[in-house]
Amino acid sequence: MTEAILLVGGKGTRLRPLTVNTPKPMVPAAGVPFLTHQLARARAAGVDHVVLATSYLAEVFEPHFGDGSALGLRLEYVTEKEPLGTGGAIRNVADRLDSAPGDPVLIFNGDILTGLDIAALVATHRSARADVSLHLTRVADPRAFGLVPTDDDGRVTAFLEKPESPEDIVTDQINAGAYCFNRSVIDTIPAGRPVSVERETFPGLLSDGAHLQGMVDSTYWLDLGTPQAFVRGSADLVLGRAPSPAVPGRHGDSLVLAGAHVADDAKLTGGTAVSAGAVVGSGARVDGSTILAGAVIEPGAVVTSSLVGAGAVIGARTVLEGAVIGDGARVGADNELRHGVRVWCGAVIADGAVRFSSDQ
Ligand code: GTP
Repeated sequence: MTEAILLVGGKGTRLRPLTVNTPKPMVPAAGVPFLTHQLARARAAGVDHVVLATSYLAEVFEPHFGDGSALGLRLEYVTEKEPLGTGGAIRNVADRLDSAPGDPVLIFNGDILTGLDIAALVATHRSARADVSLHLTRVADPRAFGLVPTDDDGRVTAFLEKPESPEDIVTDQINAGAYCFNRSVIDTIPAGRPVSVERETFPGLLSDGAHLQGMVDSTYWLDLGTPQAFVRGSADLVLGRAPSPAVPGRHGDSLVLAGAHVADDAKLTGGTAVSAGAVVGSGARVDGSTILAGAVIEPGAVVTSSLVGAGAVIGARTVLEGAVIGDGARVGADNELRHGVRVWCGAVIADGAVRFSSDQ
């Protein structure tokens, strides 16, 4: 059996306003807090003990997941007094680990949706006799990421900052946010101060001659850090494109949770998820979107690739496309909100107040 640390303490600034009241790993994707999918996948891979490294809005995790027994896990929670960054958070939970110095400990970023073969990462780590092994994924456009080139044996040769010019793009491999550490390496991270595992720990280990092994796994991978990615990830879970044992229902065009009400002539497509207590009115069309608990989509509204926060109201005939509506916001009838527009929690938009013009 293996143990894992899940990093869930980030502020999730890119996902605001959804992360104003809810930490990113607790925002529902396909009807359940996103973290549920990661915990269920870890369990399915043989992990039995998980330590959650919490900071921002730390108090909401334990009331939901408790001791983890419902998921077949033993869960522990450690909250930082001040945010310690990714490396500092890993070090801060070290005293909760049962592993011996040479044992592998899995570490996951709390905002990655992936089909990674977790057992294969541990097997690669063991067979390479590495100090740390990293899941690497290939991306079509690596410009927005730190690059991780490897040699012919898969051993990491460098950690490169975001490339600035085309010559700097020496590989399309990026850090995919899942690691296997020897327990003893975790104990070498400085305690009690912020540390970035990506910017400090990994480059430091490499320059000290440590063995860092990369495992390229080109399975499904998505960083759910932005609203567009979050909506995509939730829809892919509903559609069955992204693997998770925790989707609460059958895969298909839509997922309607118990206690939601969808009018008979409303149309839900593209992996739309409708949470408990939400209402979708007559003739409304909702495509590839996430409708959170208690939200109301009034008759005739057209919602595409959007996220509607808990208790928000979308007025009749309003059009949303790529929009994020914060919890409790009220968008009146006959509005048109497109292209990544974000409406803050509790904001009110009057009937017919916002129009989109393609001339602008
Ligand atoms: P943005 O603010 O939108 O960049 O999101 P974020 O705060 O989640 O940061 P980022 O995506 O870089 O974080 C990667 C992972 O590390 C996420 O799962 C975060 O929850 C987690 N994380 C980031 N900073 C901290 C921290 O200081 N403490 C803990 N415990 N986790 C952290």
